[in-house]
Amino acid sequence: MIAATVGSAVGLGNIWRFPAVAQANGGGAFLIIYIGCVILLGIPVMLAEFSIGRAGKSDAIGSMKSLGAGKGWRSFGGLSIMAAYLILSFYMVVVGWTVEYLWESITGELYANVGPDMKSTFAGHMKEYISDTWTPMVATVIMIVINIGVLLGGVQKGIERLSNWLMPVLFVLLVVFCIRALSFEKALEGYTFFLRPDWSVVTSGTFISALGQAFFSLSLGMGVLVTYSSYFPGDTNLTKTAVTVSLLDLLVAVMMGLIIFPAVMSFGLNGEGIEGATLVFVTLPEVFMQMHGTQIWSILFFLLLAVAALTSTISVAEVAVACIRDRFKVSRLKAVLIVMLPLFVISPICSLSQGALSGVTIFGLSIFNFLDTLATNVLLPVVSIGLCIWLGWFAPKGLLSDQLSNAGSLKTRLALPIRFIIRWIAPLLILTVFICGFL
Ligand code: PFF
Repeated sequence: MIAATVGSAVGLGNIWRFPAVAQANGGGAFLIIYIGCVILLGIPVMLAEFSIGRAGKSDAIGSMKSLGAGKGWRSFGGLSIMAAYLILSFYMVVVGWTVEYLWESITGELYANVGPDMKSTFAGHMKEYISDTWTPMVATVIMIVINIGVLLGGVQKGIERLSNWLMPVLFVLLVVFCIRALSFEKALEGYTFFLRPDWSVVTSGTFISALGQAFFSLSLGMGVLVTYSSYFPGDTNLTKTAVTVSLLDLLVAVMMGLIIFPAVMSFGLNGEGIEGATLVFVTLPEVFMQMHGTQIWSILFFLLLAVAALTSTISVAEVAVACIRDRFKVSRLKAVLIVMLPLFVISPICSLSQGALSGVTIFGLSIFNFLDTLATNVLLPVVSIGLCIWLGWFAPKGLLSDQLSNAGSLKTRLALPIRFIIRWIAPLLILTVFICGFL
């Protein structure tokens, strides 16, 4: 089960989103704030979700209900599923890009006409691809269909098992790329940007971005971990699990930074107006170009990334399907269709917002970026505040300490500080960051 939790957590969030957000927020200082968010808030909020799920034995709404939460509190469970859904809608588009890059790596098209100026070749290629109307949309739709197939075919377990094998391979691959990046011409400048904090670029927005990224990457506030932990056996050490999952997830993100930023500096992408969302798709092919066996590395990487992303999308969709089945007592087929069919409309709109619909903005953001910001920087923190307040103050007495200590059989020195964080620090700090981020 720990492997499945890692499977849900490690996905495009670490590999695609983290470097993009880190770049947009100035590098080093962001990294420190991000690590702070993961340790101080991410781990305790994860434990809050684990406790609610293992005690309530159902999805986010059902668990809270069975633990006696009123309708108002349960609506946070509902909001978490909504956040997951919005994330799923634009995440599918990026999964589509990944699969397209996998395909182009196999056919060799991606590396066919690379001129001496790699940067503009790959940047131009990505820009042209995502702003095209049909190709990215077709890839997105194919991914939705594959997800439906997996959900209906009941092969999730198989995919999970597959990913348990492939995740360590992905990890090893990242280590290889990290080592390769060490010898890039301007590697040092890359490390400096990523590791040396420049506090002058920090604003309240940096904090909300770091918080949102931490929650996105750890799959927090999406109801996923509540549902997963409802399958945890009674003797699972929740604290140890949360720390392991969070640190592994953090490690993958940091490794990505150690690959991307040396490449960004060495190949002169910095300040080139490469939009965050496309950063990885431009930089990584450049890294592969620097290695012998370019195509093989590229195929391997995009294949593993696609599998990692698939385990994440399936985990989120499955939670929504389980929830619909529970609430409305409908068949699995109906529930899958209710969850997945709207994506055929929303995801293509997200895809188009990179091209044909790029002129349509909401609060100055493209539709893609608006949904990302709304779900990640607004809904995930709001849900987490709600869950922490309910668990810390209104849940049945002793629930949290029972869960953290497995009904007294585990001695953990962390129980007290974690309880304090869940009751006081997490709600107040998340609320402060949240409010300041919007002032
Ligand atoms: N933790 C996942 C990731 O970092 O990729 C978050 C996630 C987002 C999972 C969207 C699933 C999903 F559909």
